[in-house]
Amino acid sequence: MKNIVLIGMSGSGKTSVGKFISNILNMEFIDTDQMLITKSGMDISHIFNRYGEDYFRAMERRLIKDISSRTQQVISTGGGIVLSEDNIRLLRKNGMIFFLKGTINTLVKNLKSSGLDHRPLLAGDDELAVQVGRLYKNRRNLYLDSADIIVSIDNKAIEEIGKDIIRKFKQIPH
Ligand code: S3P
Repeated sequence: MKNIVLIGMSGSGKTSVGKFISNILNMEFIDTDQMLITKSGMDISHIFNRYGEDYFRAMERRLIKDISSRTQQVISTGGGIVLSEDNIRLLRKNGMIFFLKGTINTLVKNLKSSGLDHRPLLAGDDELAVQVGRLYKNRRNLYLDSADIIVSIDNKAIEEIGKDIIRKFKQIPH
């Protein structure tokens, strides 16, 4: 069975939805941010502040290379995974890529409840909606181009989004 790969902005629910799907389908759950934290022993803001974003992206690419060779996993990715074409090429080889797409309002609402701990790119002084909007504008096409399937998350509970993805995953031969 192929991997289910979740991409999208911070606040789109990749981690919660991924955990839900992995429980239902009994597949291994991988959260790339969490794995990088565990492997490096550092939190993400610390990596960004101390070593810079490029260093973080290199760690992320090494991790993707590693996990994308395996199957039967639900992989929740960090929001910036689409910045590398290689990441997407590797993830697509053994996986189906779902883009969790929501409005800036939805993302901001979710971010306000989940917090900004691992999100140094959203720790600026501008209003959160402005920062999220700016990042999304730069990445929107990358998400759209990288996705096999686009899933709307607006006004939907985690379970609903998860079930939607499972249904679509089962429909497509793999
Ligand atoms: C990032 C998103 C974060 C984390 C890092 C960079 C991004 O993951 O990987 O702070 O570039 O959008 P989430 O999407 O889980 O917030």
